[in-house]
Order: sequence, then C-alpha cells, then structure tokens
Amino acid sequence: MKTKKDVITDGKTKTIIKGEQPGTCVLETKDILTGGDAAKRAEFKDIGKWKTTQTANIFNYLKKKGVETSFIKQFSDNSLLCYECEMLPLELVSRRFAWGSFLKRMPKFKKEDGTPYRFEQIRTEFFHKKSVIAAPLTDKPYQLEEGDARNLYLKDGVWEKGVYTDPYIHIENGRWYLYPGKETFVQNQPLMETPALLNKEEVNHVVNELMLPIFKYLEEAWDNVETKDGKVALVDMKIEIGRRKVDNKLVIADVIDNDSWRIWPGADPKKQLDKQCFRDGHPAGEITEKYKLVAELTGKW
Ligand SMILES: Nc1ncnc2c1ncn2[C@@H]1O[C@H](COP(=O)(O)OP(=O)(O)OP(=O)(O)O)[C@@H](O)[C@H]1O
Ligand SMILES: [Mg+2]
Repeated sequence: MKTKKDVITDGKTKTIIKGEQPGTCVLETKDILTGGDAAKRAEFKDIGKWKTTQTANIFNYLKKKGVETSFIKQFSDNSLLCYECEMLPLELVSRRFAWGSFLKRMPKFKKEDGTPYRFEQIRTEFFHKKSVIAAPLTDKPYQLEEGDARNLYLKDGVWEKGVYTDPYIHIENGRWYLYPGKETFVQNQPLMETPALLNKEEVNHVVNELMLPIFKYLEEAWDNVETKDGKVALVDMKIEIGRRKVDNKLVIADVIDNDSWRIWPGADPKKQLDKQCFRDGHPAGEITEKYKLVAELTGKW
C-alpha cells in the first residue's frame, strides 16, 4: 500500500514513489498518453506496460554501451526501480532530421519536396520545462511550472496568447536566453533571460558525453532493425537529466520510451511507429499495437 508520504511526484504519465533503499525511487507508468503539452490526453489499456518494457530495454542497452543512467532494474510490469535524482527542468533534444517544432523555429530547413532535411552532424537543442508567460498577459515575462500554466491558461484545449510552453534555450557567453519553442527563431529577440542551470563544462559534458553518444547508439540499434517497410530511421529524440542523490553524478534520468522520439520505418514519416499516431488521432488499437511492437523490437538489443 503506498501512502501519500511515499509519493515524490505525481506527474502526467508517471508516479514517482520513494524506494525502499535510500536514494532510490520507483517510476510507475500510467496507462495514459498525452500530447500538445497535455492539451490532449487519453487512456490506453496496457500502454504503461509497453512503455515500461521499452525504457527497461533501452536503458539496459545503453548500460551495455557504458552510458550511466538513473536506471537500476525493471520492478514490475509497469514500474522501474531507479536512483532518485534531482531533476533539471530541461528537455534535451537531438536530431538527425529536421522535423516537428524544429521547422517552426527554423523554416528555412523545410524542403519543397516534403522530405526531411538531414543533419550531417547531429543537431542538439535545450528546452526549458518551465513555461514563459509574456505579453499580452504581462509586461514583465516570467516563468511558471507547466502544470500551473495549464491550470491558468489552457481553456478547452487552447492556450491563451502569451504562454510559451517548452521555450527554446539559446546559450550565449554562458548566459541562457529563452525563445518561443514553436515560432520562427529571431536572434537577439528572446522572451527573457533565465538563470543558467549548467556551467560551460557541464554543457559540454551533457552534449558530448550524453546526448551525442546516446543518439548514436540508439540510431545504430534502430538501423539494424528490419521491418516490412525497411530499416528504422531515428529522426529525433528527447532525454532528461538529473543528479543522482547517491553520488551527485549528472546522468540521463526519467525514461526513454516510444513517447521520447520519432522513429520511421523506411525513413517514411507516414510509417511512424512512435507517439505521432496518437497526436494525429489514429485508432486506439493501432496505437497500442505500435507501442507493443516497439517493446518487442527494443527487447532484442
Ligand atoms: N529518477 C528520477 N528521480 C526523480 N524524479 C524523476 C526521476 N525520473 C523522472 N523523474 C520526474 O518525475 C516526474 C513525473 O514524471 P511525468 O513524466 O509523469 O511528469 P510530467 O507531468 O510529464 O512532467 P514533466 O513535464 O516534468 O515530465 C517528472 O518531473 C520527471 O522529471
Ligand atoms: Mg514527463
């Protein structure tokens, strides 16, 4: 029986519970998918089980490659035993292809023939998890937890003007500036400055020792997966990082599951196996089948 005291966080898709050993926690995944900053939300039978299996498979694979994570082991069908971390309010995105919100910020990468632009060198980006509240809601922009922004400014699935969820972080001379995440990037016109969450050495470490190797390992693993539509292209992915409470080490934490990336068999956007099918309103059965398939495929790594 879990008591209220044991719950560290009750999030949109997971509940984090104190583990029995000090410095550990249990990530329990709900049978829920969310999209559009949780403007869209639905329940899917067994999806928590498939997502848990995916994260366990992926973190076990990364462990074999020597990447340190917060993951200890799978705890039950829908939960993982992890090291508890002091999470940083960041989403770290790595991209092989220009797609999704990237094209909104950088429309010049949009190709006329509709095929995605391929980055020779993986492109890395940081986003802040705290939303920005700006004009016309206020003269002095400030940051707010996404949940609080949602309670105040999401009405019938539509955000009020002036709310910027997951703002893009542009780092210049060690200072961190926030820009709209889903509008054209205009240099020198940030929404606001935000305190730097990592120093220069830590930024380098995060990019070169975590984001890039992790992307390459997973891209390679997917490249070896043959489906009826061809090999699977890893288009982009998101990770979160935190400092493990046991040793203060900065590691990849949270989860990597089918919500975390775009994966396209045969490099075809219409064949996507990831959460995009939910965002696009595909039938529930098809969505669950895709999550199950990804759990099975990552199990071979
Ligand atoms: N190992 C960990 N130790 C402590 N907290 C963790 C760990 N892994 C994940 N978390 C945190 O658990 C919280 C709950 O997860 P969930 O994904 O449901 O949250 P959320 O509502 O989507 O919010 P967020 O946008 O912060 O992810 C997240 O804030 C995440 O950062
Ligand atoms: Mg989350």
